Amino acid sequence: MTDLFEALLEAPGLAAHLPALRENPRRWLVTGAAGFIGSNLVEALLRLDQQVVGLDNFATGHQRNLDELLAAVGPERAARFGLITGDIRDARTCAEACAGVDVVLHQAALGSVPRSIADPLISHEVNVTGFVQMLDAARQAGVTRFVYAASSSTYGDEPNLPKREERIGNPLSPYAVTKLVNELYAAVYARSYGFKAIGLRYFNVFGPRQDPHGPYAAVIPRWVDAMLDGENITINGDGETSRDFCFAANAVQANLLAALAPDEVQGEVFNVAVGERTTLNQLFELLQDGLQRHGRNALGEAVYGPFRAGDVRHSEADIGKAATFLGYAPTHDIKAGIEEALPWYLEQAASKRD
Ligand SMILES: NC(=O)c1ccc[n+]([C@@H]2O[C@H](COP(=O)([O-])OP(=O)(O)OC[C@H]3O[C@@H](n4cnc5c(N)ncnc54)[C@H](O)[C@@H]3O)[C@@H](O)[C@H]2O)c1
Repeated sequence: MTDLFEALLEAPGLAAHLPALRENPRRWLVTGAAGFIGSNLVEALLRLDQQVVGLDNFATGHQRNLDELLAAVGPERAARFGLITGDIRDARTCAEACAGVDVVLHQAALGSVPRSIADPLISHEVNVTGFVQMLDAARQAGVTRFVYAASSSTYGDEPNLPKREERIGNPLSPYAVTKLVNELYAAVYARSYGFKAIGLRYFNVFGPRQDPHGPYAAVIPRWVDAMLDGENITINGDGETSRDFCFAANAVQANLLAALAPDEVQGEVFNVAVGERTTLNQLFELLQDGLQRHGRNALGEAVYGPFRAGDVRHSEADIGKAATFLGYAPTHDIKAGIEEALPWYLEQAASKRD
């Protein structure tokens, strides 16, 4: 089983903060706690002896993610976790969740560009209305740090690489609009109320607990699952579309650093990625090689399909701003991340077949 927590302890920027955090635990609210990134955040926080409230409506998250992390941290730390099952679109739920909380890590949203193209209204309701409900509840509750999941999709048609925080283009999907609007609201809350939030523009995050199933599954878990079933993999377009794939431990590190950052840094937006570009063709090879190293063969072949609507062609982050202001330093590149994530996917696949 992977241990993202070990990676956190290796992150040089975090080391200095951890003893004080352990000595003076805070109360954290993680929205989207039953999801992929949220459940990894909850696990890391509990391992750091923090008090954690989770909020989730299980739209795309799973109880099994919570069960797995609570088992991993052990009963004593698990007792410091409480779950509110509810919806971020509901003001009362948000107020209840924020009561007595020091730090909010806001992850709850409906991800996926194609989902937002299929149903822009629900993406708007959850990602925009739900976001403002959370932001406002946090402000009214006197939360001191609010860190939220922004997205690399905000770069849209901006052609330059690597992507730098201050240069964005036109959004290419309703999802991208929702994430841009999050940033606009965060900026206006800073101006209007002095309530400063940090936005983390995640680039394709992957790792344990990322759901491989459903029409809107992300590429890495979807491909691994299909490969293990011996199915052919449909690559959208010519396979030269590229992404900056970011292992979950890097995203967890960025959240903790943002939450612990001094006042001067609050209100900013940061790229969270590795700073390397991998094409879909390269990703296909990396995953097949990885699975073969685990003794898996007959993994299916690549077949090419049409380009997908709303997709950005190339994506690669400049992570200099997060490095300078947060002390962010990714512990995993794509290869190391895949190496860590594959055992989890193999375990899932084995239990699926039991
Ligand atoms: N995974 C990525 O590569 C990536 C990239 C960019 C941004 N993000 C953002 O990061 C965040 C977390 O993404 P993830 O990959 O962990 O997705 P996920 O779907 O695994 O997690 C999202 C969680 O939010 C919950 N949720 C959805 N709607 C809700 C609602 N109305 N009320 C309460 N809870 C609700 C879901 O049930 C789920 O548990 C999202 O905001 C997403 O947009 C993710």
